[in-house]
Amino acid sequence: MSWNASDYQSHCGYVWQHGESLVDQLAPQPGECLIDLGCGTGQLTQQIAKRGAMVTGLDSDRTMIDQATANYPNSTFPNLTFQVADAARFNPPQPVDAIFSNAALHWVTAAESAAQCISAALKPGGRFVAEFGGAGNVSTILTALQQVSGRDDLNPWYFPRLGAYSMLLEAAGLSVVFAHLFDRPTPLGESGLAGWLAMFGQRFFPEITAADWTQIVNAVERKVPELYQNGEWIADYKRLRIVAFKP
Ligand code: BEZ
Repeated sequence: MSWNASDYQSHCGYVWQHGESLVDQLAPQPGECLIDLGCGTGQLTQQIAKRGAMVTGLDSDRTMIDQATANYPNSTFPNLTFQVADAARFNPPQPVDAIFSNAALHWVTAAESAAQCISAALKPGGRFVAEFGGAGNVSTILTALQQVSGRDDLNPWYFPRLGAYSMLLEAAGLSVVFAHLFDRPTPLGESGLAGWLAMFGQRFFPEITAADWTQIVNAVERKVPELYQNGEWIADYKRLRIVAFKP
């Protein structure tokens, strides 16, 4: 499945705005070499590069990488490059000082392979700093999507428990030094739940026509009235933030 990177960039700014504190936790240093795994349209990759690090943004989706490259061309941003690569199969030419990932790893169901690649790509002493959807993430929306579609076999997401993900990283040879699972109710902005469903929920309705889509959105919205608060839609995000080192 391919993304609409232009719509993503226009309507999903909350994804990278919430990731800014993760860049602080990463604390990139001038001269470091880093990977932004699942970089999307590159806004956080650029924030990391602004602090003086050399950053490669990787994403499995070609349209995301094309948009990121158009936003931040290497001719103007010489310490930024973008490449298509799968989080469960990437293999950089040199080991790096740190791997950063925001709001991406819940799309990577081959989590053990991703953990192995992350571990192999880090220098000794290198760090992995990530945040993504953890156990219970968007559970209200997910339940409504499954009820309206009548399908419980189409969930594309991996929302692990804190202990399970920590064990997976440890099994790949990393030492977990910080892990936190927390609620982060997320306002969905002007495009609301309808915009979120158009971007992320269509996978639950593989055979639907455009004409039926409005009815589907209405049906999902009717099932989750508790997410509409003070005139805006707020998604029930739960984040897993994790920091690990390669010994
Ligand atoms: C998330 O960032 O938690 C998320 C985004 C889209 C679909 C599912 C989860």
